[in-house]
Amino acid sequence: MATSRTGMLLKSAKKSGVLSRVVSTSASSHNASASTVILDRSAAKTCPFRSRFQAVDEAISPWRHETDVSAKTNSDIKTFEEIPGPKGLPVVGTLFDYFKKDGLRFNKMFEAYQKRAIEHGPIYKEKIATINTVVISDPEEYSKVIRSEGKYPQRREMEPIAYYRQQRGLGLGLVNDQGEEWYKLRTVTAPKMLKMKDVLDFCVPMNEVGDDFVTHLTTTRQANDEIVGLEKELFKWAFESIGTFLFEERVGCFSNPTPAQAKDFIDHLQEFFRYLQPLMYNVPTYRLYRTKLWKKFEYHADKVFELGREFIEKKVAELETEQLNGTCTDSDKVSFLTYMLSQNSLTTDEALSTAVDLLTAATETTSNAMLWSLYCLAENPEAQERMFEETKSVLGEGSEITPQNITKLTYVKAVLKETFRKYPITWATSRITHEDMEVSGHHIPANTHVQANLFGMFRDEKLFPDNDKFQPERWLRENKMDTQLKSLSNLIWGHGARMCIGRRFAEQEMHIMLTKIVQNFKLEYHHEPIEATLNTVMTPDRPLVLKFIPRV
Ligand code: HEM
Repeated sequence: MATSRTGMLLKSAKKSGVLSRVVSTSASSHNASASTVILDRSAAKTCPFRSRFQAVDEAISPWRHETDVSAKTNSDIKTFEEIPGPKGLPVVGTLFDYFKKDGLRFNKMFEAYQKRAIEHGPIYKEKIATINTVVISDPEEYSKVIRSEGKYPQRREMEPIAYYRQQRGLGLGLVNDQGEEWYKLRTVTAPKMLKMKDVLDFCVPMNEVGDDFVTHLTTTRQANDEIVGLEKELFKWAFESIGTFLFEERVGCFSNPTPAQAKDFIDHLQEFFRYLQPLMYNVPTYRLYRTKLWKKFEYHADKVFELGREFIEKKVAELETEQLNGTCTDSDKVSFLTYMLSQNSLTTDEALSTAVDLLTAATETTSNAMLWSLYCLAENPEAQERMFEETKSVLGEGSEITPQNITKLTYVKAVLKETFRKYPITWATSRITHEDMEVSGHHIPANTHVQANLFGMFRDEKLFPDNDKFQPERWLRENKMDTQLKSLSNLIWGHGARMCIGRRFAEQEMHIMLTKIVQNFKLEYHHEPIEATLNTVMTPDRPLVLKFIPRV
């Protein structure tokens, strides 16, 4: 019998001991030290995909090759201390500004940045308790930060998650690791996630998930066509999509009842994000003693890891059985998990941390982006009709979305871009500078936390005229938008070598899902206007109740 690709991958995993390590640690899944195994650092350096990954990454990096990175060195450059900004108190900085009656709010940080920028200008600095940050609201100036990125771009870690993982002896994972450790994880994961062909191959399962979700929405509607609890339903869709990618099989989120394991995972993940937000910006007192809030966060984080580990162990057991029975499929399209487990350089802990990172990073983001897109479409019937017309002319009556025709859905793509402009779910993007540089006429020393004020720039009338209007047209090629402004819209995904690794996956699944929804339903909204708040990412401030009126 010819050796299948899956079989070969598994053999390689077996040889490296990854599979047996996963299984052998399962009995003590709560004992983090049991999952500590030897690292093979040499493998990352010799990764066969490295050059391909770099090529892909460079191709999608805005501004990267445009101009020289070197900072001005004339004596006009002002000092770091001269950067304007709100005056705070010693030690706590401006912390109390966020607790005053009618003051700024942590769950509206995007508005705080916008207000500060209007008051202090395109560059300002602020110290909120332990967080020191420089905020830039000029695309040209932030491009200097982008272009100066080194081999190991550094983003401030999500402190509560990093602290939790350290306490549990778990790896920090792709999202929070830095330096060589991050590079190793990125080098293993990027080839599978950023290669356009691999992502386009995924159109088939994404269509299946999309069709099932449309059916699910149809059955979830009330008699007046409204869907109550849309947030949860979209969360299920997002989980089903990333689950299918990770495990190469359906999780079953749309069945009634939802399988207990998937339901628990979704419930705990939502709570995890709910408690994460207030922990992110406040004084990290949880480092001194386990506050009530911290205990809740910890409880849900434990459950997310426990359930994530169960998903993975189930998959590993299935793969082993398949291998024993010789029934491995002869295909290039192995699941992401199979692929990861076959990488000799990953420890069990790293494979688990990466899988959990992907499950968590993929759900809250795409489900909220979909909520905002559907809300914008419901509030803008003309845009909705134009999108419907495009889907009819490109796809005809109900035909599948394929790697060939998806590129022609230009208006659908513009709808998503415009949604992100109005509601940038990731409302700021950042780096810790790794060298001294000049930005906005000021000296910025190495190791400074610098952020791009995306929300402020997207809502700046000078950059985007009529910015309160939802106008997907502004992103269409014929409207010849300034190249740098166009690139600004990419910053919703971050930038450079550390840009969102799920970008291609996320864009494609959202384009497919939006298309299918508009093909099948007319969307309407008949309640109070929605405002934005933060639940780690930007989210509607109240349940979004939309009408899904069947088109036929
Ligand atoms: C609407 C959808 C999404 C948005 C707006 C988004 C946005 C972002 C942003 C802004 C970053 C930081 C990038 C940087 O610092 O340059 C990021 C990182 C990341 N995202 Fe996404 N994301 C989305 C969906 C996804 C999905 C679907 C996945 C997984 C399949 C994912 C996985 C990750 C991971 C693992 C990182 C950390 C990458 C690293 O540090 O190397 N994201 N994302």
